[in-house]
Amino acid sequence: MAKVKTQYVCQNCGYTSPRYLGRCPNCGQWNTLTEEVVQTGTASQVTKHAATLTGIVAKPQRLNEINAQKTPRIKTKLHELNRVLGGGIVPGSLVLIGGDPGIGKSTLLLQVSGQLCDEKHSVLYVSGEESATQVKMRAERLNVHGNDFYIYPETNMDSIRATIDEMKPEFVVIDSVQTMQASNVSSAIGSVSQIREVTAQLMQIAKGMNITVFVVGHVTKGGAIAGPKILEHMVDTVLYFEGDLHHTYRILRSVKNRFGSTNELGIFEMHQDGLAEVKNPSEIFLEERLQNATGSAVVVSLEGTRPILVEIQALVTPTVYGNAQRTATGLSRNRVALIMAVLEKRANLMLQNQDAFLKAAGGVRLDEPAIDLALAVAIASSYRDRGTRPDDAFVGEVGLTGEIRRVNRIEQRVAEAAKLGFKRIIVPKNNLRGWNPPTNIQVIGVQTIGEVLRVALPGS
Ligand SMILES: Nc1ncnc2c1ncn2[C@@H]1O[C@H](COP(=O)(O)OP(=O)(O)OP(=O)(O)O)[C@@H](O)[C@H]1O
Ligand SMILES: [Mg+2]
Ligand SMILES: [Zn+2]
Repeated sequence: MAKVKTQYVCQNCGYTSPRYLGRCPNCGQWNTLTEEVVQTGTASQVTKHAATLTGIVAKPQRLNEINAQKTPRIKTKLHELNRVLGGGIVPGSLVLIGGDPGIGKSTLLLQVSGQLCDEKHSVLYVSGEESATQVKMRAERLNVHGNDFYIYPETNMDSIRATIDEMKPEFVVIDSVQTMQASNVSSAIGSVSQIREVTAQLMQIAKGMNITVFVVGHVTKGGAIAGPKILEHMVDTVLYFEGDLHHTYRILRSVKNRFGSTNELGIFEMHQDGLAEVKNPSEIFLEERLQNATGSAVVVSLEGTRPILVEIQALVTPTVYGNAQRTATGLSRNRVALIMAVLEKRANLMLQNQDAFLKAAGGVRLDEPAIDLALAVAIASSYRDRGTRPDDAFVGEVGLTGEIRRVNRIEQRVAEAAKLGFKRIIVPKNNLRGWNPPTNIQVIGVQTIGEVLRVALPGS
């Protein structure tokens, strides 16, 4: 017999409590607990249910008897996507794609589905948000056809499972998880309990029937996938699709991947006819750079396995009233504060009564210590009102005593800067040992923050 149980679930973090609480003890948010009704069966009922769904009853197997044939990954025509996934789609995986409204999640998945169909795969695209006509209109704009491509406007998980059971497609797209409804949970659509149950059912479909499932997840105001961390724990791979709605480029970032490295980046440009890959992202991020501007320094940052060159911009102006402001876009504020403190103490820059605005140009987010050097140079350049050389690039971590610390994968970073025509690259001196720098770029090793400023902003 199914029992009916009521519980209070935090819509922010998924914490459950048997009674109402004004503030979630887990994540500290106010008024996030809402009442949800769950129908629970006994454990055996649940598993029996699961087994009949997928037609598979699992038994323990000896490790050395398991057939671990490596199933080849399926490559899509979007190489950027393949790389973010760790080299292609792993059959039977559950992939979550999160992103802000209107960023292009449906576009990406529709496009990929179309390409898979062109390669003779079958795809079931479940649309809970848009009618079949709407999807068709988008498909026409993106020039997506495909014979074995089925659009299915449905939100009821029972019907969806029955359809999948009958059609046995190779790929299923669920757009979006927040609109799906499992009948064994009576909480509202989009609530934490619903999302958890829907995802669990999708996981069974993926693993039990070896179907690859792509799930779209909406993002809350705070930037997390709504319904939230629980979802990320359950799936194999989590990708975030991000970007500035005011720019045309979009960044696909992997934040969790059971089949590959994380922090890989894929960069796309949104056109009328869909997403196009950006082969040479560094060019985009440097495209609008002014020559000889003050407060600008280029860093070679490694996002995943790929180096990209990004301009760091700083604007330092005297504080007019109150406390000095520090604003950072695409960079961590703590890192900015730390670099400013080091410049103040170790390079005698009087920054405490200066406002500082910092920005990684082009809407990327950078978060690795190797960007420190470029940050320091951009700040000093703006403060002293002296331009940096347009053909200089910077890589290095700044320590608290003003020392420049080594960074990983220096060869790759130097090669990328040389490829884009930079004439000099300033790197940590300790990074110079053990390899031969290329001859088409001057590699300058530095040990202290003072030395960096003498090289980059001579005579100031
Ligand atoms: N005719 C068009 N030409 C160029 N770009 C378009 C056109 N129509 C839509 N777009 C782009 O597609 C984006 C919407 O894409 P899409 O519907 O795939 O986003 P989504 O992430 O699925 O959004 P939602 O959260 O609403 O489901 C728009 O923000 C716009 O940038
Ligand atoms: Mg959509
Ligand atoms: Zn919470």
